[in-house]
Amino acid sequence: MSKFNIIGGTPLQGEISVSGNKNAALPIIAATVLTDEDCILHNIPQILDVKAMFAILEDLGKTVTFEGNTVKISGAVTHSSPAQYLVSRLRASILYLGALLGRCREAEIAPPGGCVIGKRGIDIHSDAFLGMSAELDFSSNSYKAKLTHEKDSYLFLQEASVTATENAMLLAATVPHQTIIDNAACEPHVSDLANVLVKMGATIEGIGSNRLIIKGVKKLRGVEHSIVADNIEAGTFMIAALCTQGDIIIKNIVKEHLITPTFYMNLMGANPEFIDDNTVRVRYEKPLTAPSRKVQVGLWPGFPTDLMSPMVVLTTQAEGNTLCHDWMFESRMFFCDKLVGMGANITICDPHRVIVNGITQLKAQHLSSPDLRAGIALVIAAMMADGHSVIDNASLIDRGYENIDTRLQSLGANIKREG
Ligand code: EPU
Repeated sequence: MSKFNIIGGTPLQGEISVSGNKNAALPIIAATVLTDEDCILHNIPQILDVKAMFAILEDLGKTVTFEGNTVKISGAVTHSSPAQYLVSRLRASILYLGALLGRCREAEIAPPGGCVIGKRGIDIHSDAFLGMSAELDFSSNSYKAKLTHEKDSYLFLQEASVTATENAMLLAATVPHQTIIDNAACEPHVSDLANVLVKMGATIEGIGSNRLIIKGVKKLRGVEHSIVADNIEAGTFMIAALCTQGDIIIKNIVKEHLITPTFYMNLMGANPEFIDDNTVRVRYEKPLTAPSRKVQVGLWPGFPTDLMSPMVVLTTQAEGNTLCHDWMFESRMFFCDKLVGMGANITICDPHRVIVNGITQLKAQHLSSPDLRAGIALVIAAMMADGHSVIDNASLIDRGYENIDTRLQSLGANIKREG
């Protein structure tokens, strides 16, 4: 099992480019099921979750050819029930249910796997499929779905779930009627999928809003698309620069996708400088202060839950008390006990809320990465801690961050992979 050895204390310096957005790449890979024509995807991040999605695509009969960060997908799917051992590798495999139901009019998929950060049911997904007249059978240890007839549909999602919205969009893109999705998720990755479905032949109004009006077509065409920049990765590098008292330039970002993290950094006395719409310089200038308001996750454009763990680490470097609140996931904050072990002064109020009292100098520890986002948060903590830290379970971080060790090394970090 691979691990990271990190010696803390070096400020990050230099330039880094952000990768393609993991949570855009995953549904877009699933969307290629909808056509028999060639699809070419650029800016695909080379991360374990993406590899796991491609493994399912190959199991379904598609041919996948890589050239750097560009991927060509060709051929037609030959069946609609991907192997259980592949599906169980990640949560996003549930996106194949909507895609296969759209392409084959029936599908069967095992329960997905993924990071353990809380209860993650699929009620909203099944509500959406039922609302589009699919027949569902979730009684055995697999999800079976069949589309028996097609009509105009109105869907109100009880929760603005990202992957449920995407599943509904994947199916709606193949139904030659109108589907309205209200309370749709509107994260940038959801919009990136919408843009792909439009390029493939669907009509979608309201992209970027919480009401999507989709008119599908039975036969979708191939697509060439460049995956949008990963706002979570960009935010992670911004936080890492401040935590290590560094000075870095982050390229290939989308400025408007970083408004909320920047808002909180401004409240803390940091001043990320947007050189243009695709480049930001983050420079540590002076000790940070706790933001005057709690840091609370929200649906887009609120503060992203996937940035909460790195943000907690940043607040250990801000003078005063910060209340960090993630109401979405029950286990997001569990990693805070590891930060406490490193010397952070954190009161864990309940599963969703912690109060961080900064500023504390963190000490090196032997840690284990509990999930993707907590894992990268621990990497940041180790990069600013006194001494040599070891972070086990590096593969959990590799699920979402491409070559994170070599890219951080290029910024001067003393991080080495072992195993
Ligand atoms: N939720 C609500 N109310 C809402 C919306 C969501 O309570 O209005 C709760 C849900 O019940 C759930 C949580 O918030 O507990 C997340 O819900 P969602 O269904 O949106 O999550 P998801 O679709 O399973 C995607 C991302 C996650 C990200 C969440 C939230 C993908 C493949 N996964 O998951 O990404 O945390 O949205 O933004 O897109 C990650 O990248 O590390 C990751 C876990």
